[in-house]
Amino acid sequence: MNTKLSVNINKIATLRNSRGGNTPDLLKIAMDCERFGTQGITVHPRPDERHIRYQDVRDLKSLLTTEFNIEGNPKEQKFIELVLQVKPTQVTLVPDATGQLTSNHGWDTIAHKDFLKEKIAIFKKAGIRTSVFVDADLKIIEGAKETGADRIELYTEEYAKQYHINREHAIKPFAMAAKYANELGLGINAGHDLSLENLNYFVQHVEGLLEVSIGHALISDALYLGLENTIQLYLRKLLADSRK
Ligand code: PXP
Repeated sequence: MNTKLSVNINKIATLRNSRGGNTPDLLKIAMDCERFGTQGITVHPRPDERHIRYQDVRDLKSLLTTEFNIEGNPKEQKFIELVLQVKPTQVTLVPDATGQLTSNHGWDTIAHKDFLKEKIAIFKKAGIRTSVFVDADLKIIEGAKETGADRIELYTEEYAKQYHINREHAIKPFAMAAKYANELGLGINAGHDLSLENLNYFVQHVEGLLEVSIGHALISDALYLGLENTIQLYLRKLLADSRK
């Protein structure tokens, strides 16, 4: 089984919005990412629409041919309505505060179990796969199972930070978290600060990793390497048996 790559295109929208026009063309880039081999596109429309706009999400739906993943906090009714209207392959629930710079923590699935359960049921009823963004913590993963989610997305910033210092140590909580999630029958995704440098080691040690969503590092690499080449390089890093 190969882990799927979902390219997060928020950074493209940020660049476009900085000038008010349509350059770069978000929809074209999303379709080009698919043409270059990505198996999914991720967007994270925030309530202030400072990068991905709600209309972008609607426009993307009719164009994409791979897995479409929408991230956001379901405390916003507007977000729930958007997801139900667009019906993506997957919705990833993230506990971001309004106006937060980027995601910086996973759900407390114990404290917010009833809330998550209720929202997840709404999305599942509409036939949308659900994933909850969590830290690599066994109690939290057990809580995620009880919400009825199909998958968890492991929040990997801590892994990325520790990778340079001691990668054997950095991967341990994630390997254990994945083992437990597999036992519970939860699918496993991962994201945040994954890069060409740290991705392959993660894939090799996290059993059953179904999907990674990558934005910041991938788009930054593309400035030097070009988008097509960069996507190919990331895809290669996702082959668990490659030692690159
Ligand atoms: N997963 C979630 C839930 C996120 O919020 C983000 C950033 O928007 C990512 C993955 C991708 O992180 P990065 O941009 O660091 O690759």
